[in-house]
Amino acid sequence: MPFDPGEFIGKSVDSIRAAVGKKKAIIAVSGGVDSSVAAVLASRALGRNIRCVFVDTGLMRKGEALQVKSALGRAGVQLRVVDASKSFFAALRGAEEPEKKRKIIGKMFIQVFEEEANKWGAAYLVQGTIAPDWIESGGGSRKKIKSHHNVGGLPKEMRMKLCEPLRDLYKHEVRMVARELKLPPEISERQPFPGPGLAVRIVGEITPEKAEIVRGACAIVEEELESASASGKIEHPWQYFAALLPTKTVGVRGDERSYQYTVVVRAVRSLDGMTANFSHIPPEVLQKISTRITNEIRSVGRVLYDITNKPPATVELE
Ligand code: XMP
Repeated sequence: MPFDPGEFIGKSVDSIRAAVGKKKAIIAVSGGVDSSVAAVLASRALGRNIRCVFVDTGLMRKGEALQVKSALGRAGVQLRVVDASKSFFAALRGAEEPEKKRKIIGKMFIQVFEEEANKWGAAYLVQGTIAPDWIESGGGSRKKIKSHHNVGGLPKEMRMKLCEPLRDLYKHEVRMVARELKLPPEISERQPFPGPGLAVRIVGEITPEKAEIVRGACAIVEEELESASASGKIEHPWQYFAALLPTKTVGVRGDERSYQYTVVVRAVRSLDGMTANFSHIPPEVLQKISTRITNEIRSVGRVLYDITNKPPATVELE
């Protein structure tokens, strides 16, 4: 039977209301389509009993907090922005292993939410977890591929009860719900952005300096590929971003030898993120991206394009 977004909205609003009752709930909004849809559904179900919190981890995209606040505001969701970037960077200091980083981020999220939840008296945590998140985290009898932060980081003894209205949906179905809810296109058509944010695009140890580099590079990739797509030069990729490698490589700047960071550009076609093919981007578009990144971010000396499908690679680098 085809998925019916209108029917889903009615049912999920009822079931959130039935689960949470007259208690208060809190929702983690990242600005991605999943958590935004969950926030609108929870707001419809719970009215004044839901608090929507956006945690600025320091690992968000350029201008993201403001953009999300204003887009969701137009959809009737009041966002409370909590700047926790210093605590996140401090907790991540020295961590290099991807699973360890994900677990730290998951824990930090929960810690920040618990603080907010305690202040607010919330008994429930609403999350925008979708099917691939728990399938890849080893749900049921499946092998773990990576711990999606909203799955792997939850402590067993968490005081709040979980409510995950999108658990059975895939990304394209969430977008159908977003359109049905009349969310603005900057949310409904927004490319996926992982819960741990830019952390999974910084290979190895995370520092504020590296976050700044990858944030700038992601913004350039988004601008250039969106403009190439708007002018019909490329098929709009499903997801597109930049990632930072931990190794520096040698180059030349003017007459001087340089030793600088390497950025990987990734753009993929996919339906639900479970499998993906790299996008075929014309060389002149890639060259413009490379030139802009190395000109505008002076600590980057080399730009690579990732031509690996999923499998064997995953979409994100960590
Ligand atoms: P991977 O890297 O697993 O990504 O091939 C598949 C899709 O999932 C996103 N992704 C995440 N989303 N929490 C999320 O909410 C996570 O921890 C996470 N890790 C990856 C990724 O951006 C892609 O769209």
